Amino acid sequence: MDVTQAVRTRRTTRGFLPDPVPEATIREVLEIARYAPSNSNTQPWHLAIVSGAARQQLQDAIFVEINAGVKPYPTFPSGGVGLKGVYKERQYACAYGYYGTMGIERDDIQGRRELLLKNWQFFGAPHVAFLSMPETMHRANAIDLGIFLQTFMLLLTERGISSCPQGALGSYPGPAREIAQIPEGNAILCGVSFGYADTDAKINEVRMDREPVEVISSSTS
Ligand SMILES: Cc1cc2nc3c(=O)[nH]c(=O)nc-3n(C[C@H](O)[C@H](O)[C@H](O)COP(=O)(O)O)c2cc1C
Repeated sequence: MDVTQAVRTRRTTRGFLPDPVPEATIREVLEIARYAPSNSNTQPWHLAIVSGAARQQLQDAIFVEINAGVKPYPTFPSGGVGLKGVYKERQYACAYGYYGTMGIERDDIQGRRELLLKNWQFFGAPHVAFLSMPETMHRANAIDLGIFLQTFMLLLTERGISSCPQGALGSYPGPAREIAQIPEGNAILCGVSFGYADTDAKINEVRMDREPVEVISSSTS
């Protein structure tokens, strides 16, 4: 698989098989992903991977908070809030494409909530990873983490491993701080669940389109 194929075939996957990815494969991906570029080569990223018994422990601890009615408390503001204009429209289109595929009606609050909660079940993935950077860093440094994340996901794609980047995983940082090994002073920007896709899962039929080149770029000469 070349880079073009990896970019074109990577898709956000939300239904996984329980089979773990071999540790050596995860290690190999990290060995390569660390060559992602960053501002002044600061490499501000840290990826805390949680698997096996700890993964279930983490899920349970997050649901203790959710079931107690704790509201999301991300350290960095969520990327999904305060959107306006075309960005709000695209967010709606994304949500309705997602709910539509799952047969969930617009006014089905319970159905939508159940789908949302799957975020903190890591969509059934055997591995979940938290991407963090020093809390004192500014949003420009988040670019580096984004580049690292895409590099990581494309390398997984190349190996037949699927992933789901999740801003939602920054919403309840307390349990992740306790169970995952997140460096002192770091805060979670987002997470990524990964593993082998369940190709029979309806949720994996979700397809998202993109704006044409004329909309997302301009060229002056
Ligand atoms: C930074 C970031 C945060 C995201 N957060 C979530 C999330 O919390 N839950 C989720 O189901 N998908 C999440 N997504 C997946 C996007 O919805 C998805 O990338 C987008 O709809 C395009 O679809 P595609 O990745 O299949 O091409 C996130 C993606 C990114 C890059």
